[in-house]
Amino acid sequence: MADLMNVSYDTLIPNNVGLSSDRKVLKALEKWHPGYLDWWQGQGPDGFQESLVYLRTAVSVDPKGWAKFDYVKMPQYRWGVLLAPQVEGRTIPCGEHLGEPAWQEVPGEYRSMLRRLVVIQGDTEPASVEQQRFLGATAPSLYDLRNLFQVNVEEARHLWAMVYILQKYFGKDGREESAELLQRQSGSTEKPRMLGAFNEATPDWLSFFMFTYFTDRDGKMQLEALAQSGFDPLSRTCRFMLTEEAHHMFVGETGVGRTIQRTCEAMNEAGISDPYDIDKIRALGVIDLPTIQKKLNLHYTLSLDLFGAEVSTNAANAFNSGIKGRYQEVKIDDDHRLKDATYPVSEYVDGEILLRDVPALTAINMRLRDDYTKDAAGGVKRWNALFRKYNIEFELILPHEGFHRQIGVFAGAPIAPDGTIISDQAWQKQSEQWLPTKADGDFIQSLMKPEWESGRYAGWIAPPRVGIDNKPGDFEYVQLHMA
Ligand SMILES: [Fe+2]
Ligand SMILES: [Fe+2]
Repeated sequence: MADLMNVSYDTLIPNNVGLSSDRKVLKALEKWHPGYLDWWQGQGPDGFQESLVYLRTAVSVDPKGWAKFDYVKMPQYRWGVLLAPQVEGRTIPCGEHLGEPAWQEVPGEYRSMLRRLVVIQGDTEPASVEQQRFLGATAPSLYDLRNLFQVNVEEARHLWAMVYILQKYFGKDGREESAELLQRQSGSTEKPRMLGAFNEATPDWLSFFMFTYFTDRDGKMQLEALAQSGFDPLSRTCRFMLTEEAHHMFVGETGVGRTIQRTCEAMNEAGISDPYDIDKIRALGVIDLPTIQKKLNLHYTLSLDLFGAEVSTNAANAFNSGIKGRYQEVKIDDDHRLKDATYPVSEYVDGEILLRDVPALTAINMRLRDDYTKDAAGGVKRWNALFRKYNIEFELILPHEGFHRQIGVFAGAPIAPDGTIISDQAWQKQSEQWLPTKADGDFIQSLMKPEWESGRYAGWIAPPRVGIDNKPGDFEYVQLHMA
């Protein structure tokens, strides 16, 4: 397998899947390529297409040292098809085909389910690029600008990853779906992206950091579930995508952390200890902590909605057929079939929240969402450590699962962030304290002034502790060459 670790650049499309001898698929991808480039120019980062950006490009799929860093103009980025190496003797890890050899071709009976899952995953990738396209103009530093573009080119590569699966394994349908992935558009009324959170705006950099922390983490969990797929090519492609995804969540966690740090520093310097002294804190040119909590509430709850209904027969079917596993399926100590197992799921009945045990097979979404919440709590804990460091009494919390939901059992339920059920009227009235208001958005927007000088940072965010690729603090991560 060693030869498949390295990426071949002998075709227009870098790959480790032997594209140069797979003429039919290479042709299909080459045909799709110009439309993709049009999409990137039209819907990708606004401006900056002539700038030289210090980006990493995959040269191998070996987890150690797979990336090479260099200056590149984004339209010339080498988007490629990269699969994690095949694991010899891999078997289907769950469901009724447990223990059978993993499929190397699409199993006919599950074709449409598989295609749908690949299309949904594929749709989220370009969507996030579209959502973030105007952020470059207000980047708080060249370091952050570079990180934004790294996330963008990699999300665009994830689109390639899914399009490869569609074109190699799904024939004509796959080619049609690939074309449509370039036609839907985030926020469009006629042809929106498929999932709600991917049609929301990303209006400012705090939203971007919250999005990469919370919504990219949903992406991580979905990829983890697909990495367990009995359909081996999908598993392999998702395994490599996960190595890229880790950087996106790093950008989110450190971005929020640096925002908090700067606010705390400014409060300390000004001798303000009450985090609710909002006007005074905002006058310092930093984002007050209650507003950061509101942003967290918004992005976390939109991301919870992405997991779908808590109890779902579609999810049960996907698991049972071995198309999608649970988070770290192979490490779970049970029968991997869930014949008699149950799983607790919340219900909202007659204005009461109840916990009910349901067949675990039907609660696959819920379990993945619970794993997500545990995963997301880690960074929140690290953010909270910052308040102690600066002696500020404040704590960020993940709101109750019933708060501000649009999908599942709690859709539309008037539940406060702490889980208290209140009246619809009270909820409407208090929602201004829980979710960002127009005024909050306007204030944040007023801070969004670009900082283009190497090594300098906008006043609302602290510099990072270390540079990308160990570069020094004043490294020029982007050479602008603005038109
Ligand atoms: Fe992605
Ligand atoms: Fe991502």
